[in-house]
Formats: sequence, structure tokens, C-alpha cells
Amino acid sequence: MDGRLQGKVVVVTGASRGIGRELALGFAREGAELVLASRKAPPLEAVAAEARALGVKATAIPTHVGRAEEGRKLIEETVRRCGRIDVLVNNAATNPVFGPTVAADETAWDKIFEVNVRGPFILSRAAAERMVGQGGGAIVNVASVAGLRPMPGLGIYGISKAALIHLTRTLARELAPAVRVNAVAPGLVETDFSRAILGDADVRRMALADVPLGRPAAPAEIVPAVLFLASDDARYVTGEVLVIDGGKTV
Ligand SMILES: NC(=O)c1ccc[n+]([C@@H]2O[C@H](COP(=O)([O-])OP(=O)(O)OC[C@H]3O[C@@H](n4cnc5c(N)ncnc54)[C@H](OP(=O)(O)O)[C@@H]3O)[C@@H](O)[C@H]2O)c1
Repeated sequence: MDGRLQGKVVVVTGASRGIGRELALGFAREGAELVLASRKAPPLEAVAAEARALGVKATAIPTHVGRAEEGRKLIEETVRRCGRIDVLVNNAATNPVFGPTVAADETAWDKIFEVNVRGPFILSRAAAERMVGQGGGAIVNVASVAGLRPMPGLGIYGISKAALIHLTRTLARELAPAVRVNAVAPGLVETDFSRAILGDADVRRMALADVPLGRPAAPAEIVPAVLFLASDDARYVTGEVLVIDGGKTV
């Protein structure tokens, strides 16, 4: 195999299903050595096995990214096993509430920020230390168009993704030139995560009404942008947020 990410060590969080699973398999097809993280071991192991079947090394390390110690261990273990870390993809996220922002309690706020913002911060900090020491690396954050424009019902989630976008831009400045830091901002993607919206025919119709391409993305349609940002093809790109939303925010 001779892919764009041949021999690069890539960590993907939230890799057991949805966009993260497709990202793992996309990086595997480009020849990367993978370390995959999410909370539950069995589905994560299954994705690692799928990646190995594509001819690359892949390890599953069950990790709750909202727990600081587990996040630090994920990066330490990656370096111990693989000798380095070239790419970190912060893809795992949560959204336990749907509805008006002021109807949510602070437990929901804390949980969302722990997983969607503090987790990527802790992982990026640990990864960046290694990347700077080894002479370079790339971080790609999976944000959302809800972080660029308020979306009904997705208040705190959107605020957390806006924070992730700002983390992306801040680290892009601070970690240059050694580490490039970019984000993708998907619109609606057909996964478990969006089932509350896309699984109900009426809500689905309303949510897709202002999407010029007229449909949600398939999870695989987020992969090429992430591979681009992670690869040397994007060597002069940092602090960028690539929107993949079928035209929703145009
Ligand atoms: N689907 C959409 O419409 C959409 C739109 C815009 C942006 N996004 C973003 O895309 C990313 C992936 O979403 P998705 O749609 O693929 O979701 P998904 O299908 O629900 O998958 C979420 C993944 O994250 C893992 N995860 C959840 N909480 C975690 C935690 N605390 N620690 C570690 N792993 C955790 C899950 O595994 P475990 O449950 O085993 O931990 C799973 O692997 C997220 O950042 C999401 O915000 C999605």
C-alpha cells in the first residue's frame, strides 16, 4: 500500500461508529497506522479489525475523552506503542439535550463541554507536546455548522462547537509552524447522532428544507476533507474550518 498517509501514526476518537468509523477506514486505505478510541470496547475492536483487514496496523484503546486522565493515557499509550503521533482527529462528541438553551441544566452544560471542548483540549495539548518534539504533526477537529450559526434546539452543543472552532484557530496560531490545526464543520450527517432529527419524517423534511443539495451527508462524505487536512496536501493550510453542509450555511 502506498497512500498519502503511509506510515503516519493517526489517533481517531469516536471511531466505533458513524463518521469516526468511516474516518478510521479512510485513513487505513491511505496506509496510516491507527490508534482508535471511544468508550465501548467491542464495537471499537470491530472497527480496528476492519482496518487491519485493509492491511494496516490498528489498535483499539477504550477511552472516555471527557476524563482527563484517560485522554492523557491515550496519547502516552499511542507513543509507547507506535513511537510517535503524526495526526490527532478529535471526532468524539456528545449532545444529551435538545431544546431551548435556557431549559437545560448545568449538568448538561458541563457534560457537553467536558466531552466536546475539554477533551479535545487535553488530547491536543498532550499530542502537540509530542508533535513539536518530533518535528511536526497535524490536528483535525470535527466541529459542526452549529458552531458557526445558532441552530434551533442545539444551543449548548452549538456553543461547544463554536468553542472547538476557536480552540482550532487559537492552537493554529500558537502551535505554528510545527503543528497545523484545522477543523471540518459538517451539516447534517446520517448517523446515530442525528437520529432525533433525521429519524422523524416531519423534522427531517424541515431540517433539509434549506439544504440546497437536498439531503444529509453520508458519513463517508466527511472523510476526504479530513484526509486532505491531515495530509501534506494541506501543508500550507492551518486554522481553517472546512464546511461540508450541502450548502446549508451559504
Ligand atoms: N451526525 C451529524 O449530523 C453531525 C453533524 C455535524 C457534526 N457532527 C460531529 O461529528 C462527530 C461524530 O459524530 P457522529 O454523527 O459520527 O456520531 P455517532 O455516530 O453518535 O458516533 C459518536 C462516536 O463518539 C464516541 N463517543 C461518544 N462519547 C464519547 C466519549 N465521551 N469519549 C469517547 N468517545 C465517545 C461513540 O462511541 P462510544 O459511545 O462507545 O463512546 C462513537 O464512536 C461529532 O463530533 C459530532 O458532533 C455530526
